[in-house]
Amino acid sequence: MTTDFHRRRVLRAGAVTVGSALLPVSGIVHAAVSRRFAIGEHDFLLDGKPLQIRCGEMHFARVPREYWSHRLKTIKAMGLNAVCAYLFWNYHEWREGRYDWAAQRDAAEFCRLAQAEGLWVILRPGPYACAEWEMGGLPWWLLKHDGDAFLRTRDEAYLAPARRWLKEVGRVLGPQQVTHGGPILMVQVENEYGFYGDDVGYLRALRQALLDTGFDVPLFQCNPTNAVARTYIPELFTVANFGSDPAAGFKALDAVQKGPRMCGEYYSGWFDTWGATHHGGGVEGATKDISAMLKANGSFSLYMAHGGTTFGLWGGCDRPFRPDTTSYDYDAPIGEAGWIGAKFDAYRAAITPFLAPDEKLPPPPPRMPVMTIPPFALAESVAVKSAMPARVIKDVSPRPIEQYDISRGLVSYRVTLPAGPGGVVEVARARDLAWVHLDGKQIGTFDTRYRRYKVDVPARAKPAVLEILLYTIARVNFGPEVHDRKGIHGPVTFTPKGGTAAPLEHWEIRALDFDADGVLPPLAFKKGRGKGAAFYRGGFDAARTDDTFLDMSAWGQGVVWVNGRCLGRFWSIGPTQTMYLPGPWLRKGRNEVVVLDLTGPRGQGVPTIAGLAAPILDQPHRERDLPRPPSTVRLHLDGVKPVHEGEFAPGSQTQDVRFALPATGRQFCLEALDAFDGKPYAAVAELSLLDKDGKTLDQSNWTIAWVDSEESTKEDGGALNAINGQNSDYWITALTGASYPHRLVLDLGRTMEVAGLRYVPRQGPEGVTGRIRRFRAYVGAALATDQ
Ligand code: GLA
Repeated sequence: MTTDFHRRRVLRAGAVTVGSALLPVSGIVHAAVSRRFAIGEHDFLLDGKPLQIRCGEMHFARVPREYWSHRLKTIKAMGLNAVCAYLFWNYHEWREGRYDWAAQRDAAEFCRLAQAEGLWVILRPGPYACAEWEMGGLPWWLLKHDGDAFLRTRDEAYLAPARRWLKEVGRVLGPQQVTHGGPILMVQVENEYGFYGDDVGYLRALRQALLDTGFDVPLFQCNPTNAVARTYIPELFTVANFGSDPAAGFKALDAVQKGPRMCGEYYSGWFDTWGATHHGGGVEGATKDISAMLKANGSFSLYMAHGGTTFGLWGGCDRPFRPDTTSYDYDAPIGEAGWIGAKFDAYRAAITPFLAPDEKLPPPPPRMPVMTIPPFALAESVAVKSAMPARVIKDVSPRPIEQYDISRGLVSYRVTLPAGPGGVVEVARARDLAWVHLDGKQIGTFDTRYRRYKVDVPARAKPAVLEILLYTIARVNFGPEVHDRKGIHGPVTFTPKGGTAAPLEHWEIRALDFDADGVLPPLAFKKGRGKGAAFYRGGFDAARTDDTFLDMSAWGQGVVWVNGRCLGRFWSIGPTQTMYLPGPWLRKGRNEVVVLDLTGPRGQGVPTIAGLAAPILDQPHRERDLPRPPSTVRLHLDGVKPVHEGEFAPGSQTQDVRFALPATGRQFCLEALDAFDGKPYAAVAELSLLDKDGKTLDQSNWTIAWVDSEESTKEDGGALNAINGQNSDYWITALTGASYPHRLVLDLGRTMEVAGLRYVPRQGPEGVTGRIRRFRAYVGAALATDQ
């Protein structure tokens, strides 16, 4: 397949056309010449000559605009010749029909700056991106439409606005293509769609939308190695995403197409989620893989070259519900604040032997200066309750907040409970966290992480006000759970002791909608420390405006604003304890800091914050989390007959296992009996269950019912990794003290008919530890319960 582009329109980059005149937009007008970029049989071809793409991902939304050039220069100095950039649809269209490309959102300027540094651009405009970004980049208002399976499909409720978005992308970024004198070489269609669905008609529709809006460079799709073949179509060049084993990735590509081999996302590290262990990516394995890919005439894009920070409220959430940290450092070779070290040097050294004869690497730019800030007081506060707006929404039973046109933030729900005996209040769902009060006194919490949707209510001598304060953390960015509607979902019921459940009706709802950029409401601060959920205000005087890291470790959970700009979320359960505060967002003299803390700072007295000279990214403190009742769940496998007993094949291949007969139950247990390497550890990258037709069963309501062992000290080996859809991370049993057999019990949320399983072994080179050999599978109503 050779795609050729002979159009030779000559335009000038950075210029707008008025009549027939060319006017400079930002300073110098470069005479830019259109180029031809094509996909040959073995190589990418730029003006007919082979081009090996050494690309690195950086999201301009995650880096202060003032630092874009600095980071691009650093990327160039690492030996890369291209930068890969997602566009997050919701970042540019938070309110339907209102597009925003200004300032921090100026994607065209980002392209111009990349070009000025001699970098090509690979554009990934979605509509879906993933990327640990709120709802994977999809706008929340799509969720006003009903249904749990319409996103990322050909349903017009999704496809029509998605097409409009792509049209807008073409308008703004079409002129940035190489064929028009800009740096954009290729444009990606969707993102890892083969991981999600198999309707190639959907991919074709999006491809057509990009063509219709004037993209005339090659279009491509990316998928993890295991899913490359699933949605392959000849009209789209395809690349493979992986974090190890490039040989397997390239083999999967060779099996479907004749063309250059490219890794679309090579994971140089990994993202962090709140409450889990910090992730790092090894240097040695990565440099070996980079050399191997280059030696094989391959191309790659490092995910991430520079991760940056998910400022504001843009952080996403891993499935089933594990919100991502604000830092997106990713253990990338260029750290969150643009710092470089041994990893950068190693990558640069690995790439240098493969530079073109006329290429010379520039030195990296100097590190941005950093400063400390002595602890400063936040001596004023105002309760969240009194910051709620007067406007009331009345509804019989609470519906998801999207129905009320609330995008995200804090929502207060009030209802009157009649006098009577104690009992239990239960909601159908609470997304994400909520604090429940009766006449102003906290009586419990709802927590979507554990499906904790019930609270005990005491007896009342007279009617009492039940108030729920709900905080939305982030919309899930991956898997079918992207249909992530927030708020309290009704019906809400009250079951008196010994009585029957009755709906609680006639609610008053008030909301602080933080909107796109974390808008603060007018706040009437008063001197003194807040009680419960409150906003705090303080500030500091700065003589310099250098980078710093706010130490939030003594605070609870919430959001920080500096000089009115929303910096992001914090949560002292870690592993991130600091917040990167870029110098350009400070001013000389007074700087104002506002903190929303839902649980309140620890300790007594006036709370303070200090600015540190270095980040703290690796200190989980699970003991600081909301109290969680101890688990009383027990395993009940004795006497239960397995539905299957067998042996997996060695290696990293995905394996489907069919049971002799389908079995029905609400729980599933994988019992691992030994491992290929004879060691005591078991690992699972992914576990799915299959129906009679071999299709994967819906896992959007799955939870871990029981697991005998999880590694949580050296690495994040949590069992949820086995059902989060990501092949790159994995459940692994504790690296000390655990022994076979190992058991993982899933609660499927409802009774399902299970006819088989799909097992993705831990990925990586041959001999990686934890690959299971002999196993048994069980299906039952109650394999692990608290009875
Ligand atoms: C996938 C996605 C990326 C990102 C990574 C994990 O591969 O394509 O957007 O979410 O996973 O960081």
